[in-house]
Amino acid sequence: MGISAKHGETLERGSDDATSPDRIRRFIAANLPVQTVPGIPDIRLHKAGPQSGLRRLAERDPQFGSPYWAHYWGGGLVLARYLLDRSERVAGLRVLDLGAGSGIVGIAAAKAGAAKVHATDVDPYAILAIELNAALNGVTIDTMLGDLTKGKPPKVDLICVGDLFYEAALAKSVIAFLDCCLAQGIAVLIGDPWRAHLPKSRLQPLAEYAVPDFGEDAARTRPAGVFAFE
Ligand SMILES: C[S@@+](CC[C@H](N)C(=O)[O-])C[C@H]1O[C@@H](n2cnc3c(N)ncnc32)[C@H](O)[C@@H]1O
Repeated sequence: MGISAKHGETLERGSDDATSPDRIRRFIAANLPVQTVPGIPDIRLHKAGPQSGLRRLAERDPQFGSPYWAHYWGGGLVLARYLLDRSERVAGLRVLDLGAGSGIVGIAAAKAGAAKVHATDVDPYAILAIELNAALNGVTIDTMLGDLTKGKPPKVDLICVGDLFYEAALAKSVIAFLDCCLAQGIAVLIGDPWRAHLPKSRLQPLAEYAVPDFGEDAARTRPAGVFAFE
């Protein structure tokens, strides 16, 4: 499809040290308990909790960034729920989960019958989490580390964007990339809990669900939408 799994190059730095992929996988498996996703009992993820000690990863690795991959986000939750409820929107398609984090959206797409699922993220820890979470849910996801928004549209039918409009510069580059994808005939679905940089004027609402957001108790929900980007 024009995107390949390149993460080995970066992740393999120090193959026997504390930042090796195997050590990180073992850390995630041992310290981030498997939890059912709120409102989506079909999906389970490794999720950080108070005892996970993610700062131990940060102490070992100066490149450790914000561990978005270790949490649920309102945008991913709502889009995953929608894909499972409306599997006809994704069944048989080649799907890309852009900014995949934990991989929740790609996992939902695979469970909903997508022909092939790719997931990409700029964070190497996310790539490992996506692979672990995909295996946990019995689905296959092709991962790629890197910033696809700087390149050409991938060879997919549908791009799913869960919660990527939280920063102005990121939103700008994602919108420019999605415009190129639309021009190539690729459909785009967005899940978002009304973040500051959501391109509201470009969206066709498809569904709304009440979901918990990052850092919030599962019982505390807020509205989040699924949109077609047009
Ligand atoms: C708020 S999290 C959302 C994760 C997931 N989509 C979800 O909804 O649960 C944003 C994710 O996008 C990733 N990200 C940020 N900029 C990116 C870019 N240019 N390309 C790909 N991923 C990116 C971050 O590393 C992070 O994992």
